[in-house]
Amino acid sequence: MNTLDIRLYGDPILRRKCLPVKKIDTITELVSKMIEIMYLHKGVGLAAPQVGMAKRVIVVDTSEERNSLIILINPEIINQEGEEIAIEGCLSLPGISAEVSRSKKVRVKGLSFKGQEVQMEGEGLLARAFLHEIDHLDGILFIDRISKEKK
Ligand code: CO
Repeated sequence: MNTLDIRLYGDPILRRKCLPVKKIDTITELVSKMIEIMYLHKGVGLAAPQVGMAKRVIVVDTSEERNSLIILINPEIINQEGEEIAIEGCLSLPGISAEVSRSKKVRVKGLSFKGQEVQMEGEGLLARAFLHEIDHLDGILFIDRISKEKK
């Protein structure tokens, strides 16, 4: 199996509650693999279970230039504001997209790749990416957040 494969819908790992990372030096390889896969597939974000690891790690880059990489370990949403509906997709559900309502602005905290505590804010697409990827860490997929009529 190609090690750069993305786990697809139906794979049980996508429904697992991922475990917090205790030692950052144990996930170096995982993080570089996630970054490579995210850029290779032109995704705006990726969560560890999508590459087969049930650990609380996400990578995000919502910039058009693809130069604003965020790596967040054990991320948590600490504040959410507003509401915005937009089309969403997921690399684990190729070919599927739908309107999903999310908070417009979020504040997240977590650990950087250097193990430092960080906080950051995201608005619009960045807020959406944080929420979507952190959902993955709890086994939640964007299709779970679509209204029943649209399903
Ligand atoms: Co996804």
